[in-house]
Amino acid sequence: MLKNKKILLGVCGSIAAYKSTLLLRELIKEGAEVKVVFSPSASQFVTPLTFSTLSKNPVYTEFTDAKSNVWVNHVELGLWADYFLIAPATARTISNFSHGNCDSLLCAVFLSARCKVALAPAMDADMFNHFSTQKNLQSLREQGITIIPPGTGELASGLTGEGRMAEPEELLKFLQNEFRKSPLSKKKVLITAGPTHEAIDPVRYLGNNSTGTMGYRLAEVFARRNSSVTLISGPVSLEKPNGNIRCLNVVSAEEMKNACLREFPEQDIVIMSAAVADFKPAHYSSNKIKKNESETLQLTLVKNPDILAELGEKKKKNQILIGFALESGKNISYAKEKLKRKKLDMLVYNTLDDKGSGFGKSTNKITLLFPDGKEKLFPLKKKAEVAEDIADEVEGMVRNT
Ligand code: CTP
Repeated sequence: MLKNKKILLGVCGSIAAYKSTLLLRELIKEGAEVKVVFSPSASQFVTPLTFSTLSKNPVYTEFTDAKSNVWVNHVELGLWADYFLIAPATARTISNFSHGNCDSLLCAVFLSARCKVALAPAMDADMFNHFSTQKNLQSLREQGITIIPPGTGELASGLTGEGRMAEPEELLKFLQNEFRKSPLSKKKVLITAGPTHEAIDPVRYLGNNSTGTMGYRLAEVFARRNSSVTLISGPVSLEKPNGNIRCLNVVSAEEMKNACLREFPEQDIVIMSAAVADFKPAHYSSNKIKKNESETLQLTLVKNPDILAELGEKKKKNQILIGFALESGKNISYAKEKLKRKKLDMLVYNTLDDKGSGFGKSTNKITLLFPDGKEKLFPLKKKAEVAEDIADEVEGMVRNT
């Protein structure tokens, strides 16, 4: 996949820079041609000699080469590359990129690059979650830059949290996928995400703890494989997903159902990752419900439509329908029954019994279930990686149809 591909690797001043040497070695093994650009502080963490030896190319840091006095043509570097990956990307570089600052060669190359660009942030958790960093990342996403989510774990600061740069093997897989001619290309994919909110009165609702992360990561992965993605999202507090994705926002299960039914006939693949509320209040009170003398309040609930089951009934032969099932306890047999009942081609099963799985977690441990009884188990992974695994599986299904 990466043979003869021209990869420009940007390296910033972060302790994670040592991991880039491992990535560079793998890229070379894969047959890629790599040129490296350092930020001004990268060499405080790693040496240009390591990178130039591994890449068999000079490492660029300054606008002019001090020894030869030759000007480094940042435009040429930007045009040379098939892909520009900045790993690690520090808070400072992310801020410079998002503001269009041009005080280093790395920034100039960024401004001149016409190829696809991705960043792998690496920093302390508080810095990563800071309003300014998140705003800068969002602005870069809006410019079409892919942000490769950092992992959660022990950080160089001694803190534990989000901010660890994605591991070299993840970055390699990411790049391989970017160049893969995917059978998912041009396929129409509908993905639902997040919870639904079922209004009780103008200020209250019934909902659940789904954050929408799994569905958003799925939408990004399919968009990167050049599918034409529509994301129907319930109310979430996530930033808009990366990439060319048509986003439709809904609130209630009824709204989600209407949007799904409208979009469904055009779709090749549908993935229902939304945690649709199974029940809604039987009566909506148009006035805010007041406390009264009674110590209890009774709400009568009625069943919501089962969107996935309705899609299963309408499904045409060439459409692929995928559901999710988050169960409590080891209820895999219940999930298998769901797969059959809803006429699915695949069901993504996970259980709250597995540590690290479920709503609000950055990781997930899934088992893929198929109508012929086949099961595929995966280890605990970041949701972005889980999304890649699911897309790989769907790719296989498309190839075989
Ligand atoms: N689903 C749906 N509409 C609903 C409920 C669920 O489309 N009203 C979809 C979900 O998006 C998911 C799948 O059905 O893909 C399974 O959801 P889940 O809540 O696990 O299953 P239920 O059928 O609601 O069964 P139960 O709650 O009894 O486990």
